[in-house]
Amino acid sequence: MTGPDPPDSTAAASGAGLVLTGISELTTADSGLVVDGPAALVCGADGTVVWAGPQQALPEQAGTERVDLGGRAVIPGFVDSHTHLVFAGDRSAEWEARMTGRPYQTGGVRTTVDATRAATTEQLASRAGRLAAEALRSGTTTLEVKSGYGLQPEAEARLLSIAGGITPETTFLGAHVVPAEYEGRRDEYVDVVCGPMLRRCAPLARWIDVFCEQGAFDGDQSRAVLLAGRAAGLGLRVHANQLGPGPGVRLGVELGAASVDHCSHLSAADIDALAGGRTVATLLPGAEFSTGSAYPGARRLLDAGVPVALASDCNPGTSFTTSMPFVVALAVREMGMTVAEAVVAATAGGAAALQRSDVGRLVPGRRADLAVLEAPSASWLGYRPGVDLVRAVARGGRLVAGSWPAGTGREPPAGAPADRGAAADR
Ligand code: NIG
Ligand code: FE
Repeated sequence: MTGPDPPDSTAAASGAGLVLTGISELTTADSGLVVDGPAALVCGADGTVVWAGPQQALPEQAGTERVDLGGRAVIPGFVDSHTHLVFAGDRSAEWEARMTGRPYQTGGVRTTVDATRAATTEQLASRAGRLAAEALRSGTTTLEVKSGYGLQPEAEARLLSIAGGITPETTFLGAHVVPAEYEGRRDEYVDVVCGPMLRRCAPLARWIDVFCEQGAFDGDQSRAVLLAGRAAGLGLRVHANQLGPGPGVRLGVELGAASVDHCSHLSAADIDALAGGRTVATLLPGAEFSTGSAYPGARRLLDAGVPVALASDCNPGTSFTTSMPFVVALAVREMGMTVAEAVVAATAGGAAALQRSDVGRLVPGRRADLAVLEAPSASWLGYRPGVDLVRAVARGGRLVAGSWPAGTGREPPAGAPADRGAAADR
């Protein structure tokens, strides 16, 4: 649903393209970041962006379908590079206990493992599909999905098959925690992950991930998992430095992981390693929100030139949200990011974390994945917290969620620039 698609043959056959006008603020997430309105965007028949810029410079006859957005902001579709969408069960009681002061512990994962193993494939697929649809409605057009609640070869393969029905960005997380049946036999479990489980799961995954943390897997065990994954042809990702300092971030950089995720406890050496490598630091403030932990500062990373992504970490334990607008709001309110930095991290940053050069920015050649906001600027994502501001979502230049603004859409080509902010204030 959210991965690279072949060009849309229907659109290509009819030669149809799409022109969006009346954009009050266009975040391209390119080097210029934002085009002030009125701006316009042209999508080609193949679903990619053909042109983006000030409306007064819009090339004539640029497309056949024209939608006037009436003074609404447009951002790239969110690229949520870290989710655990395939699971069963409910851990709201654990969340409530944390809100009264109980700390998060990795052992909670086993509760979800029990519920997930007991669920039918239909139940799991149906819930994951609903969560993916929820994500799409809030502007997420590319999604990564991990396994990690099966922790047996067949059980992990089942979760990855379900994930593969949602996205090509599937991640094998057999090394999430040690399951109860391997209690006290951590190294034996690592051998299973690196052996039969990996052999069964590698054909179903693009990535391998490991939870490198006290209470999960130490540096040596994490290294073994990542090296085995790499040998099986998978790209590397790491859950690193979430609950305390540790070796995960430096290990990820050393092994050339695409991304190290969480990064909530970073030493100066961790930042130096990230600044000297190509690994993306993915921040997941939904987890801090839902565990009642301190937010990591993003400034240290950004000021050191480290590529930063924001993702939801949607999972039943530490961050049960698919909402990237919420994540952006947290990043600005709690982590020292500007609105532009947060939107870029949630779009182009997520694409970099998934090593995708076809999505994440609204520039010629990339897929025309975008969200139209019921707002004059992207800053409203934080300025109006908790309000659903995503009006329409397009993927490959085609509407896939929400609706074009009523009374403004599908006009014949016309020249009048939109009145900035007028419609969004309604
Ligand atoms: O990213 N940190 C490890 N995994 C998840 C939490 C999983 C759970 O508690 O179920 C996370 O926060
Ligand atoms: Fe996670």
